[in-house]
Amino acid sequence: MAHQILIDQALDQWILDLFSDDCQLHLWQQASPEVMQEIVGCFIYSHPQIDGAFMDSLPQLKVISNFGVGVDHIDLDAAKERGLPVGNTPNLLDGATADMAFALLMATARNLIPGEHYAHSPEFTHYDPNILLGREVHSSTLGIIGLGNIGFQLARRAQGFDMEVLYHNRNHNPRAESELGAVYVSFDELLQRADFVCLTVPLTPETYHMIGRRQLELMQQSAFLINVARGGVVDHDALLHALQEKQIAGAGFDVTEPEPLPRDHPLLEQDNMVIMPHLGSATAQTRLAMAQRTVDNLNAALAGKDLITRVA
Ligand code: DGY
Repeated sequence: MAHQILIDQALDQWILDLFSDDCQLHLWQQASPEVMQEIVGCFIYSHPQIDGAFMDSLPQLKVISNFGVGVDHIDLDAAKERGLPVGNTPNLLDGATADMAFALLMATARNLIPGEHYAHSPEFTHYDPNILLGREVHSSTLGIIGLGNIGFQLARRAQGFDMEVLYHNRNHNPRAESELGAVYVSFDELLQRADFVCLTVPLTPETYHMIGRRQLELMQQSAFLINVARGGVVDHDALLHALQEKQIAGAGFDVTEPEPLPRDHPLLEQDNMVIMPHLGSATAQTRLAMAQRTVDNLNAALAGKDLITRVA
């Protein structure tokens, strides 16, 4: 009998092609109560909230396989209590996400978005050495909060720009220190010294709103805040205040809280903020590798084997 798999969003053909023939896919929103009784695996694609009640609504469920490394939308404790393995896609997206962090860093520091708009506008009539003066990126100080796999890749990129790299973590990262010269400092010291504060922490109860009014006040007026983690790591009211009051120079966010922001949200009007629609891992190669891993984790569990990358 075919494995009945629940998906939370319609999938494009390139992902469908990765599933084996013995998988039958059902869209969550359209699955009948009878189908829900037969579901053995979930392919989680677009960050829906997955809680214990949802798990209990699927009596045959054997595995939850998440497309992505961040699993803040899944209640891992509830999965553990029910003995349900949860898979994710670590390591595969480190390079692409670090690239995006660097792109946001460059975009904010060097006025790429206003520059692009100006270059297309009728106002651009002659070269003017006095417009859109940005901040130097090379030889500046990068502060990485949460130096894990993505933060490590970011620190590597910073080396090529002759940047001083500070970091703050729960634990020291000896490899980043010995290979990349990253220097461990306290949270407050990092905020005070960095020209670019970059967030690469997972969203957990401990990191929720870890950047708020006090932390933004510690940052330099000339500094930028870059977020490729999750929107919830930053208190957006405090950020709006800091940007409006020019307490910091700007922000580059790949993620927001909520996501997307309501279309009339004042942060969308801030000309000192660049916001992307959660594109950190969005390269064809990385997204393919993530999709393959998500399917492989699913298949492994359904074959009674260990998941390749299991987070709970
Ligand atoms: C991740 O892998 O966590 C990305 O943000 C996509 O979910």
